[in-house]
Amino acid sequence: MYSAILLMAGKGERMKKDINKVLLPLGEKKIYEYPLKVLLETVDEVICVISEADKSLMRKFPKKVKVTFGGATRQESVMNGLKLVTNEYVLIHDAARPFITTRLIDDIKMSLNGNTNVLVGLKCKDSMKLIENSSIKNLDRDMVIRAATPQCGKTQYLLEAYKMSLEDNIQFTDDLSVLNYYYPSLETEVIFASDDLFKITTETDYLLAELIWRNYD
Ligand code: CTP
Ligand code: MG
Repeated sequence: MYSAILLMAGKGERMKKDINKVLLPLGEKKIYEYPLKVLLETVDEVICVISEADKSLMRKFPKKVKVTFGGATRQESVMNGLKLVTNEYVLIHDAARPFITTRLIDDIKMSLNGNTNVLVGLKCKDSMKLIENSSIKNLDRDMVIRAATPQCGKTQYLLEAYKMSLEDNIQFTDDLSVLNYYYPSLETEVIFASDDLFKITTETDYLLAELIWRNYD
C-alpha cells in the first residue's frame, strides 16, 4: 500500500508573482491540481501539505486527501506530511512538477519493494563541470543526474531520518539525501523520467509549462 505526500506549502519566491506559484493557472486548472489528480488515481492515500494562507484559494479537497500545514522549509513541510502517513511506502512529490504521469507512478510502485528506495531523475543535457577551488573538472554527463521527484522509500525510515535531520539541524533540499545520510546502506534505484517532469521555478519554466499543456491531449 502506498501513500503520497504532495508538497505545496512554498512561497514560490523565484517566480516573482504575488501568489504561491502552485496556485497559478495552467489551462483550466491550477498547477497543483494536475499532480493531485494523478496521485489520487494511483496511490491509496494522498497527504497535501499546504500553506495556511493559501487554504481559501484552493478547491475543496476530495475525501481521500488528508491536509496538513507546511513549515518554513521544504524539510519541515515533508516532516509534517510524514506524520500523517499510514502506509508502508511513501512517494514524496513537488506540486510544482505538474506533468507527472500514472505510468511513472506504476513504474515506481514496481521498483519500491523491500528496503529499496526510488529516486526519479532527469538526464543532464548540458556539459557538466565541477568547480573545486579554482580548478574546473569535466564530468561525464551520464554519471550525473538532476534529482527530481517523486522520491520514495519506506515510511518508517523516512520518518526516522527526517526526525534526526531536524534534531541535528542539518539542512537537506531533497528526500533521498536525508535517507542516504542516515541510512547509507539502503539501496536506491534511479528511474529516469522525461524532461516534462521539470520543476516550475521561474517565469521561463511557467511559460514552458503553458506551452507543454497546450500540446498535451
Ligand atoms: N515547499 C513546501 N514547503 C516549503 C517550501 C517548499 O511544501 N516550506 C514545496 C513547494 O510548494 C514546491 C516544492 O516544495 O512544490 C519544491 O520547492 P520549490 O520549488 O523551492 O518551491 P518554493 O519554495 O515555493 O519556491 P522558491 O524557492 O522559489 O520560493
Ligand atoms: Mg524553495
